[in-house]
Amino acid sequence: VPEESTRRGISRGELFKIAGATGAGIVLGGVGTRAVASTARGDAGSVPFFGIHQAGIDTPLQQNMLFAAFDLTTDDVSKVRKLLREWTAAAVLMCEGREVGETDVNAYLPPEDTGEALGMGSSRLTLTFGFGSTLFEQEGGEDRFGLRASKPEALVDIPPMPGEEMEPERSGGDLCVQACAEDKQVAFHAIRNLTRISRGIATIRWSQVGFGPRYQKRLLLTKETPRNLFGFKDGTNNLNIEDEEKMARHVWVDSADDQAWMGGGTYVVARRIRMLVEVWDRSSLRDQEQSIGRVKISGAPIGSENEFDPVDLAAKGDDGRPLAPPDSHVRLSQEGGEKILRRGYSFTDGVDLTRGQLEAGLFFVCFQRDPQKQFVPLQRRLAQNDALNEYILHTGSAVFACPPGAREGGYVGETLFDRA
Ligand code: HEM
Repeated sequence: VPEESTRRGISRGELFKIAGATGAGIVLGGVGTRAVASTARGDAGSVPFFGIHQAGIDTPLQQNMLFAAFDLTTDDVSKVRKLLREWTAAAVLMCEGREVGETDVNAYLPPEDTGEALGMGSSRLTLTFGFGSTLFEQEGGEDRFGLRASKPEALVDIPPMPGEEMEPERSGGDLCVQACAEDKQVAFHAIRNLTRISRGIATIRWSQVGFGPRYQKRLLLTKETPRNLFGFKDGTNNLNIEDEEKMARHVWVDSADDQAWMGGGTYVVARRIRMLVEVWDRSSLRDQEQSIGRVKISGAPIGSENEFDPVDLAAKGDDGRPLAPPDSHVRLSQEGGEKILRRGYSFTDGVDLTRGQLEAGLFFVCFQRDPQKQFVPLQRRLAQNDALNEYILHTGSAVFACPPGAREGGYVGETLFDRA
């Protein structure tokens, strides 16, 4: 029989005690109010589940992601509320690196926790929950749960855009859970156990695995920008998660915006974007840089030396042409002034047999206060003119309202469901 402390894992309170006692202290301020505790087990630390905002949004990027969308199979709102309570309880435990229930109590029953994350710690796991438009109103207009009056105006699916090949089986969903962790197996364990708990109430609709470069842990300290699968630094001009004023302006919903229950929440847009790497790899370095509008190795704007030099859209080269070409990704992304918090991951899903190509790309995830005012106009400009369109293909799309963070003793979605 394993020792009690390893069997039930170590609580967050204990972690802080250990961290204090060993002098390891709290290694990172994280962002805002969210601290990251270093553990005595050589773990990557844990990110608190409770807070004003859900974790996994203003949390420094972990290395791995598993995103899952669920469909509800019940018409009973009290069952949905019960599921969210149970998901919250399980999420709290898993984010502390603990198992969801006993693993070795009754030899005649399936163990409660599935076991594959035993002894791995929290691995900076975050679980972020969201509600799709179909939770409030089904496609035929049906008000299954009596939630229609609470549907935020901002929660509308992204309209079709030119050039995309959407697959319904990779789009939409009543609920979503984004699991991010340093370790892939910890993220998998979390989604698997939440799926197990949802049995009889919800079924999994689609999921997407995402990864980032291994040096991401170092990035937390050095703030070096990771590269995407086109080999370009991606995130240079992203919103700064430490800039609370900008986060409040562009990411967090104010309770006066629309539906009061969304105050402190945000909207996530997820797009599965294939990157046609074979086509990209046959294009010249010049074409690649002109398409993005930045220098590949340094990440600097064309004509500048350093990655973080500002992009000057008015700057012209010796030939009188703009340094950031009219159809470059950077110019088009910046032109309308919309700001979003990008938090995407690379993916590879085997081979596209019809094209005989790698099925790889970017699982683009972004957070914003109102997708209708931010993502939609931005993506409309890109879909029409972006030079990158020759090399990419959007194949999945979903929008979810992420409610505010849960308070200790409460549950995710409480501000919505306690009114229903
Ligand atoms: C596979 C698809 C995509 C790739 C490879 C890609 C790549 C990049 C790269 C390399 C940069 C420059 C570095 C940076 O500032 O982060 C960038 C910037 C940016 N991208 Fe994308 N991107 C993709 C899709 C999108 C989509 C779908 C959107 C939104 C609809 C978007 C919005 C932005 C924005 C807002 C910026 C910052 C522009 C600025 O203010 O300078 N990107 N992207």
